[in-house]
Amino acid sequence: VTQLWKVDANKLDEEHYDEAARLLREGGIVAFPTETVYGLGADARNTNAVGRIFAAKGRPSDNPLIVHIADINQLDALIMPYGPLAHKLMERFWPGPLTIVLPVKPGAVSPRVTAGLDTVAVRMPAHPVARQLIAASRCPIAAPSANRSGRPSPTTARHVMDDLNGRIDAVLDGGAAGVGLESTVIQLEGDDTVRILRPGGVTAEELRQVAAKVEYDSTAIPSGGAIGATDGDTITVPDGDPIIAPGGSQIAAHSEAANAAVLSSALQSGAPVQSDAGQAPRSPGMKYAHYAPRGTMELVQGPNAVDVAGYIQRAVRQAHSRGERTGVLVFAEHAALYEGEEHIVVLGSLLRLEEAAQGLYAALRDFDDRDVQSIWAETCPETGIGHALMNRLSKAAGHRVVNV
Ligand code: TXA
Ligand code: MG
Repeated sequence: VTQLWKVDANKLDEEHYDEAARLLREGGIVAFPTETVYGLGADARNTNAVGRIFAAKGRPSDNPLIVHIADINQLDALIMPYGPLAHKLMERFWPGPLTIVLPVKPGAVSPRVTAGLDTVAVRMPAHPVARQLIAASRCPIAAPSANRSGRPSPTTARHVMDDLNGRIDAVLDGGAAGVGLESTVIQLEGDDTVRILRPGGVTAEELRQVAAKVEYDSTAIPSGGAIGATDGDTITVPDGDPIIAPGGSQIAAHSEAANAAVLSSALQSGAPVQSDAGQAPRSPGMKYAHYAPRGTMELVQGPNAVDVAGYIQRAVRQAHSRGERTGVLVFAEHAALYEGEEHIVVLGSLLRLEEAAQGLYAALRDFDDRDVQSIWAETCPETGIGHALMNRLSKAAGHRVVNV
């Protein structure tokens, strides 16, 4: 059985922390809240415990885990000596939703954590429950998001139980997670360049305050199962660079959604997609289909919200005539356009995309719970957290985007 313990984030002396910490030291696996999403933790040095994480999640073993620390003093045991850029990033963003991939100290963590890479992803979470648990365990804690692989990341203890009850030892319930989307994963190049492998809680704009150059990794745009490529194909789409469509025409794609639109039409045409870089993804996790709701989802974008709403309403009516249950994700500014429609979820205001980020995964899970078969979603500007939000929406939609 899985123990479910409620803890108060502001009272840091509860017995449940000690009990959970003891479980971790003894090779158990325990879920806990962070300021991004709930994580599923194990002692990063214990191969058996780490193996239990992969088994509980059904996670592919070549997808490495993030190691969480509570104190900067835990760092030297994990990674090789690091330069001034890493130092500045840690000072500015830790504790917080930034994960930094750095050369691992040989033998510091189980090879299952790094999936055999010579780097390790490290993050110091800001959530008081996570910090207290990690500190009490006195372990570096390997923790992926606490969901079954392929499900949206959990933002509440209820989500964790829905996915993992009976498969893990305990859950610390510290209320809803904060950001609602996962941490930003970065890699460093030289003394001035930050490469974003996964957009997340820390925005590119914020990283630019510390690093001279911040770029999105061209291998980080997801490919593979989600869009039906056959195994072994690597489809890479550089973010903001021209990409080559089948037939050889160059299309300037300046947003993730635009890239996805090109990709999806290319794939529908059945032709192989040319990529400018045949490299394996730098962040192994990016090649998997993540965050997918059970229903089929499509993003709808265009300059005019009324036209977008018109398209979605027609699509919903057609789906209903096929006997399907439908769901729609919209922003508060446009909610009135959808009045009277079935199962409309208002994600929040376009002026406060942080709110939308907080609610996205719960909305996707809700669609699953209601067996919704077809989902349409509006898009948002890719500024600030909007970039990570569009990244997750686009993945959830299997990169299906319609322009109206
Ligand atoms: O916000 C978060 O990051 C949450 C909370 C629990 O901390 N954790 C999380 O973990 O999202 P997970 O396992 O769902 O995602 C980890 C990502 C994957 O895309 C993985 O491929 C990448 O980090 N990653 C881990 N180690 C890496 C490495 N050595 N090099 C490149 N990418 C790595
Ligand atoms: Mg995950």
